[in-house]
Amino acid sequence: MAFLDPGDPVELSSATRAGFRARYGADAALVARAPGRVNLIGEHTDYNAGLCLPVALPHATYAAVARRADDRVRVASLEADDTWEGTIAGAGPGGATGWAAYAAGVLWAMREAGHDVPGVDVLVHGTVPLGAGLSSSAALECSVAVAVAALTGRELDLETRRALVPLCMRAESEVAGAPTGGMDQTVALLAEPGTALLLDFGDDSNRAVPLGLEDAELTLLVTDTRVSHALHDGGYGDRRAECEAAAAALGVASLREAELSAVEALDDDLLRRRARHIVTENDRVAATVTALGEGDWNAVGRLLLASHVSMRDDFEISCDELDTVVTTAVEAGALGSRMTGGGFGGSAVSLVPLARLDAVMRAVDTAFVAAGFRPPAHLQVDPAARAELVP
Ligand code: GLA
Repeated sequence: MAFLDPGDPVELSSATRAGFRARYGADAALVARAPGRVNLIGEHTDYNAGLCLPVALPHATYAAVARRADDRVRVASLEADDTWEGTIAGAGPGGATGWAAYAAGVLWAMREAGHDVPGVDVLVHGTVPLGAGLSSSAALECSVAVAVAALTGRELDLETRRALVPLCMRAESEVAGAPTGGMDQTVALLAEPGTALLLDFGDDSNRAVPLGLEDAELTLLVTDTRVSHALHDGGYGDRRAECEAAAAALGVASLREAELSAVEALDDDLLRRRARHIVTENDRVAATVTALGEGDWNAVGRLLLASHVSMRDDFEISCDELDTVVTTAVEAGALGSRMTGGGFGGSAVSLVPLARLDAVMRAVDTAFVAAGFRPPAHLQVDPAARAELVP
């Protein structure tokens, strides 16, 4: 069974510092870490002014940085062979490419926003699975943003954190070319341990929602199907455009304002189904928060499943591997399960009684072998903390 450990923060931080020294022949000034995320419920709602409920993963990206005397930037990773090198001005759209766009793009976006960003050397390392729908890209952006903010003497208070969210988003959309919403960066910069973060993109508010998984003897199991997912090509942008078209057809500024009865009356079958997912998904997020408040875990499980069905049938962003995880996990004792993240591959999240964890993982592995899929990888998630400096 493939089980992905988050690793020990102290060891990962030392490994990142050692990698920095080996790559650049000097010591890093500081190391920051930023978590990946798993979204409990509320998918593709963020760019529709809607609701979502993500959780920070214990799996994180670590960024070691040091100031340079000139205006240049070097960005390297223990997970990649190439080093990106250029100027901060040259790290904008059309400049940095590949994985380095997420890191160098943040420096460009920070400078564009008026931050006093010096030339820096950066080395990143981490345990967020890449391309698994668990926001390795936001973890990368936010680890660099927090490291550089601290390097330039900024206090990592709420104001700084909030200010960094749109800059990390800019790196992702304008430099890396992935037109994503703000869920991943917000949770990476604001999450609190043991909680999910209820995000409302209608008014940009958020609040921590305590989960109490341990007391309920439950856990979150994330299963990476290893069907790779990339947000800069195809499907994600199509869904965004379809949602905008549906909102236009309904005469509303965003699907957050759409009424289900009006959606059901849409002539266009495709737009009707896309909009129906968004409108019902917002309701499911609100219902999940209520059920969590009441400790009604069976209701939470049912909402997760309903969300998956909506993404599979109406939004059409699931795939056979994700459907197999969901069906198998529930048959093996999970209270609920759904695909999570952008879709078209990536990961599923299941709500599992601790006593059934092993059985669920084994059942999913067996089902994957039977279906001829690549073996999946599992992560057990204790809701973790937001991006921070590593002392
Ligand atoms: C990706 C994007 C997010 C969000 C999800 C789907 O993770 O980065 O902004 O849209 O997909 O909910």
